[in-house]
This record gives sequence, C-alpha cells and structure tokens, in this order.
Amino acid sequence: DIADMKGMKQGQLKLSTVTTTKYFLPRILGPFCDRYPGIDVSLKFTNHEGIQQYLHENSSDLYILSQVPENLDVVSYKVIENPLVVLAPYNHPLTKERQIPIARIAEEPFIMRESGSGTRQVVQKLFDRHDLKLKVRLELSSNEAIKQAIVGGLGLSILSRHTLALEGMTKPLAVLDVAGFPIQNYWYVIYPSGKQLSVVGRTFLNYLQQEGEQITEASAFFN
Ligand code: PGA
Repeated sequence: DIADMKGMKQGQLKLSTVTTTKYFLPRILGPFCDRYPGIDVSLKFTNHEGIQQYLHENSSDLYILSQVPENLDVVSYKVIENPLVVLAPYNHPLTKERQIPIARIAEEPFIMRESGSGTRQVVQKLFDRHDLKLKVRLELSSNEAIKQAIVGGLGLSILSRHTLALEGMTKPLAVLDVAGFPIQNYWYVIYPSGKQLSVVGRTFLNYLQQEGEQITEASAFFN
C-alpha cells in the first residue's frame, strides 16, 4: 500500500533463527529490505535448543525453526518448505542406485549434527521408527562442516536441501535416491502466545507467507 511504498514502516526487526536458515534467509532479506528501507534487521543464529532459550528470554520479535517446540506455548506459522535429503560424495557407489532402502543407509558411516539440533531430532526419530541404529562416526555442529566431511569420505548425512542452495551444477555432493526421501519438513515462524507482535514483526511474517517460498525456489540451484 501507499504507506509501504513511502518506506513508512520503520524500526528494528529482531529475528532468532536456526543455523540451517543461513542458506536462504539472508538472501530473502535482500528484497525485503529493498521494499522496506526503514526497517533494520538483526539476525541471531543458533540451533533448535538455543531458540528455546531466546524465546524464554523474549529476545526477538520472531523465531524461525523447523520443529515447533511442543513444551512451549507459541503461535506458529508454516512458511517455507524444508525438505531433508540424504547426502553422499558424488562418486559414492550408492549414487547409482534407485529407491535405496533406508536400512542400507544405516549400514554406512554417518555424520550427525550436535545434540540440540532440530535436524538431528528428525533424523534420530526416523531411524528409531524403523528400529535402525545409525553408525555415527562423527558429530559436528555445523552443516557446512558436515558437507566438507562428506566430501572427505567420512560418511553420509541427512541435511536440509537448502544447504545445497549455492552449489550449482558442478557439485562434489550428490543427493541419494532413498525410499521415503526427501522428508517433507517446513520452516515455521513462531512467537510466544499472548505476545503482541510489533508492526515490523507482522510485516516480515506477511512477507514470508506471501513471497518466501517463491524467492527461495527461484534463486536456488537445487539438485
Ligand atoms: P538445526 O535447525 O538443526 O540447526 O537446529 C533445523 C531445525 O529447526 O530443525
């Protein structure tokens, strides 16, 4: 509307978000800040467990993660898809197979995110549900470090497809065709129930709901 066009939405937008969103969130902020030049953004990255702590301290306007905490009273909005995929080095023998049974993945050395990570929770639940035990060879608290370790031949891992956003077509990593994958996950924006959302908070939430998916897909080179 006219007020938006004149850049009349002003103030600081404080976001707390899980590390895995660093692959698309700063990119989405580009067009958002263009549209609302009066809004300054501050972005804090942590893992799933860290978000619960920030929520507790009421340190941000909005919080972004992919597992909505069940033990906290929050309002949540599903905004963008977050598919989880099985990653291997490009020359791994499993890249030639189709519909690989999940039990086969459990036979390979695996690289796991740290405890406190939402991605780890999803992975652990999936293998528990199939009564499978992962052969965890290495635990790393960074998606980027996990990608490097996969290329280094240390094992396979399961990460958000967003971690491949800028890999392009010549890639050292391959997405395996595993039965039941990708796991359909979503990014959620949450805030404490009963909290009055600021104008800038509401503006960003509406923006993510309306444009988030489109911007994320349009500018990423997904495998
Ligand atoms: P994390 O985030 O693995 O970096 O904690 C992803 C999520 O919220 O599931």
